[in-house]
Amino acid sequence: MPHPLTEDRIMEALRGVMDPELGSDVVDLGMVREVVLDEGVVTIGLALTIAECPMRGQIENDTVRRIEAIPGVRRVVVETRAMTRKQRSELMEVARRRARENAAPTRVPPTTRTIAVGSGKGGVGKSSVSVNLALALGRVGYRVGLLDADIWGFSIPRMLGTDARIEADPATRLMQPVEAYGIEVVSTGLIIESEETALMWRGLMLSKALEQFLQQVAWGKLDYLVIDLPPGTGDVQMALSRLLPQSEMVVVTTPSLTAQKVAIRVADMARRSAMPVVAVIENMSYFETPDGQRFELFGRGGGEALADSLNVPLIGAIPLDPALGAGTDRGEPVVVVRPDGPAARVFTEVAGRLLELVPPAEAETCTGRIAKLMAALSS
Ligand SMILES: Nc1ncnc2c1ncn2[C@@H]1O[C@H](COP(=O)(O)OP(=O)(O)O)[C@@H](O)[C@H]1O
Ligand SMILES: [Mg+2]
Repeated sequence: MPHPLTEDRIMEALRGVMDPELGSDVVDLGMVREVVLDEGVVTIGLALTIAECPMRGQIENDTVRRIEAIPGVRRVVVETRAMTRKQRSELMEVARRRARENAAPTRVPPTTRTIAVGSGKGGVGKSSVSVNLALALGRVGYRVGLLDADIWGFSIPRMLGTDARIEADPATRLMQPVEAYGIEVVSTGLIIESEETALMWRGLMLSKALEQFLQQVAWGKLDYLVIDLPPGTGDVQMALSRLLPQSEMVVVTTPSLTAQKVAIRVADMARRSAMPVVAVIENMSYFETPDGQRFELFGRGGGEALADSLNVPLIGAIPLDPALGAGTDRGEPVVVVRPDGPAARVFTEVAGRLLELVPPAEAETCTGRIAKLMAALSS
């Protein structure tokens, strides 16, 4: 069923565009001054605190990406202007109120880019991709968290070879993520110890478990949080987009051309959760012999077909790599133990493409600059 493009739909998508420093989204902060719809061309009038705001590019890019992901949008025009004095003081009022109410819905810093890894069906290598992608981002030097949101089908602890336990800080009662290969990891598999705790967790709804992981974990100052979504289009996806509206989705698929069904499921998931899909990754694309012969064991074209139908780029085709399967079983991810192997090399490239599509948040923000200006004026 086609969904009409409405101003409400646009505003909903804009709630995913954050001003990291003010800790809220551009709608809440009153930065969206105008939305004009004209036959699939969407014009957004944005007011920033000051014109030469260092975050301007980021906010504009996020806006375009979010709106472009909505079905029916052909083109996005962002018109940025500076706020008037009055608008600026209203905005600061909202920001102060948010800070007082301590309204942040999660403990994930607003400067963290959130990338959810999803798929249309199970067994496509979603968890393997989540792990290796998170590690590849970590190797570039970013601070990375990995959240296993596959609450009951968890496989991240095994893939990282960790049997460490998540501890709660007695003072704050917050859970401390486990560190593995330099990234911060949280998974139900790192909590469940006894029948008792298993029962306790089983009693929680899946969306509640996710809420706990986002609200009761002392996530550090992460640049990226990679989330391994459970299969299906259900509760967890919806809860994630509610709790972390800045989340974006990367979809993993196989080369097989049963793509049509998968595409419909993924599009449905994106629509229901209002989480934009930014890219497709194809996994198990081919097997290459040492002398360079390629065999496409599982067909071809699935990734491209899905990317085309979602109108997003295909950012990589990961080969079958026996070391990946073996490494997964031993808790030795290929990106770390065999960085020159066929799969790891592609993971590194894919991480690079992802960094271009979803660049890290700017360090300096608009209000940061205002504060500096004020300090300079008063000194
Ligand atoms: N590119 C690959 N080469 C070899 N084996 C792979 C590859 N991707 C995934 N696998 C293997 O396929 C199985 C399923 O992968 P997994 O990441 O658990 O999938 P999902 O999370 O989608 O269910 C695992 O045994 C994994 O080691
Ligand atoms: Mg999995």
